[in-house]
Amino acid sequence: MFNTMAGDFFCTQRIHVIGEIQVKFTQFLKHFILRPTKTGAIAPSSEGLANLITTAADLSNASAIIEFGSGNGVFTEKILQKIPLGARFFVLEINPDFVTATRNRCPGVIVYQDSASNAKKYLHEFGLKECDCIICGLPWASFSEDLQNELLDTIIDVLKPGGRFLTFAYLQGLLLPAGMRFRAKLKTRFNKVTKTRTVWLNIPPAFIYCAEKR
Ligand SMILES: C[S@@+](CC[C@H](N)C(=O)[O-])C[C@H]1O[C@@H](n2cnc3c(N)ncnc32)[C@H](O)[C@@H]1O
Repeated sequence: MFNTMAGDFFCTQRIHVIGEIQVKFTQFLKHFILRPTKTGAIAPSSEGLANLITTAADLSNASAIIEFGSGNGVFTEKILQKIPLGARFFVLEINPDFVTATRNRCPGVIVYQDSASNAKKYLHEFGLKECDCIICGLPWASFSEDLQNELLDTIIDVLKPGGRFLTFAYLQGLLLPAGMRFRAKLKTRFNKVTKTRTVWLNIPPAFIYCAEKR
């Protein structure tokens, strides 16, 4: 009897988890088909990549943090677990469906539906001039050079000296002209740029650039 009940419970739970994963993947795939260069991914990042980017960001002493391009909130959830009490944190996400997905996953988090290029405006609304850290999920390898420049200008503008910028990149993106261009731009604009290990179980495998402002 107990075995049957437990079996039913775990079976229902498994179906529920599989259902949730399918919804998340379908949402990404739909937006990738509709807006490939803005979405830039066929699937949300893995928990492994989310853990790596938020650990590499070393948020323990950060007092102002911004996230760019939250998708369904996989990084947002980890950021909330790691920021100190009282830290200021908001998200900029351009796609209204992903804004809703992030808000549903992380109730209470401040998510603005706008381009990351407008980060300064929202920082000012918080009464702040600069932030300590930017955690970024933008698809740099599918952006034009003008958009890369515009966004990097914003990032340099809103980060305080010594502030950290972390963004992920797919391995295959290194072979794309826009991916190579982005990597070169990071090196010229930031003081120190390092790379983490690759998360092979991410779809597709990805690593993180960790950059520090001069
Ligand atoms: C590759 S997905 C990453 C999503 C999520 N961080 C993850 O890792 O699963 C890129 C996200 O950036 C958003 N995005 C693209 N351009 C943007 C912009 N200019 N400002 C803010 N968000 C943007 C997309 O809508 C999408 O949610």
